[in-house]
Amino acid sequence: MPEEYSILCERLTKKFENVVAVDNLSLRVKKGELFGFLGPNGAGKTTTINMLTTLLPKTAGKARVAEFDLESQAALIRSRIGVVPQRFSLFEELTPMENLWYLGELYEMKKEDIEKRGAELLRIVELYEKKDIPSGTFSGGMKQRLSVAAGLLHQPEILFLDEPTTGLDPQSRIALRELTASLNRSGITVIYTTHDMDEADKLCQRIAIMNYGKLVALGTPSELKELQGHTHKIQLELDSHSPEILDSLKKLAGAISIVANGNKVEMRVKRLKPRLVQTLSEFLDRHNLRMGDFTISEPTLEEVFMSLTKKALRD
Ligand SMILES: Nc1ncnc2c1ncn2[C@@H]1O[C@H](COP(=O)(O)OP(=O)(O)O)[C@@H](O)[C@H]1O
Ligand SMILES: [Mg+2]
Repeated sequence: MPEEYSILCERLTKKFENVVAVDNLSLRVKKGELFGFLGPNGAGKTTTINMLTTLLPKTAGKARVAEFDLESQAALIRSRIGVVPQRFSLFEELTPMENLWYLGELYEMKKEDIEKRGAELLRIVELYEKKDIPSGTFSGGMKQRLSVAAGLLHQPEILFLDEPTTGLDPQSRIALRELTASLNRSGITVIYTTHDMDEADKLCQRIAIMNYGKLVALGTPSELKELQGHTHKIQLELDSHSPEILDSLKKLAGAISIVANGNKVEMRVKRLKPRLVQTLSEFLDRHNLRMGDFTISEPTLEEVFMSLTKKALRD
C-alpha cells in the first residue's frame, strides 16, 4: 500500500564539530503538501535539506523520503527527488538547454526525452526564449528559475527548494513563489525553506519553525498564529484616556490585555466581537473622546516566533 507521507523524520540529528545543526527533528510531510521550513540563519534548514536529499550523512535518527529509507535506499531516494540548492549550481558558461542536456546525461535519460522534457520545462519556467543564451548572463531570478527546471528534469515526486527567493528582487520573488505554487498544484510535494515569515505564511500549507536546530512549532499558518493565545491585535489612537476609560474599552472589546503608550492604545482579543468598531466609537463619543487611527491585524508568524523563542526571527 502506498504511504501517506512523502517524508518521515524521527529524531533526525546532525552534529558538526562544535554545533548541533539539527537536533532530534521529528515530523511528517504529507504527500502533495507544500511544506515550509522557517527559521533564522543558522537554524538548521539547509542541513535538514542536505540530509533528506542524501547529500549529507546524518549523525543519528531515522528518515524515510518518497517511501524509501534514508540510510539503505539513498539511490532510490535520489531518483524520486529534485533539489534546488541554496546557491546557483549550474554551469554559467552553458545555455539553459545545455545545462539540462548535461544533467539529463548524468541521469542517463534518453536523448529524445531530454529534448522534449527540457523544452517543456523551459517553457514552464519562462526561459524558453532564452534557451540559447549562456546562463551566466542571467539575472538572479532567471538563474533560480533555471535551477528549478534542472530540479524537475527527471520528473521528481518531491522538490526541495532551499531559500529560492533569498536575494531576489520583489518581482522575481513573486514569480518564483507563483511557480512553486503551480508546481505543487500539479501534484509535486514541495519542501521549501525560507527565513521570510511573510513568504512562509502566504505560500506554505504547513510550516515547521526551527531555531538552533530544534523544531519549535509546526502547523498551518493559522494554527501557528493561534498558538500565540490571541488572534487579533487592535490598535487605536485616542486624544486622551484614563485608566477607567481603558478598563471600559477592554471590557467592551472582550480583550485579554490593553496597553497604552502615549495616545496609542493596543488591545489583544481572542475573538473579534461583531460591530466592534461601532461599539467602541459610540462609547468614545459618549465620553467626548476622539478616535484617530484604528487598525485590526492578525498576529504575524514573527510574533509567534518571538513568543516561542523570545527573540526576533531576523536576529
Ligand atoms: N559543514 C559545516 N560544518 C560546521 N558547521 C556547519 C556546517 N554546515 C552548517 N553548520 C552550522 O550548522 C548550523 C545550521 O546551519 P544551516 O543548516 O546552514 O542553517 P540555515 O540553513 O537554517 O541557515 C549553523 O550553526 C552552521 O554554522
Ligand atoms: Mg540555509
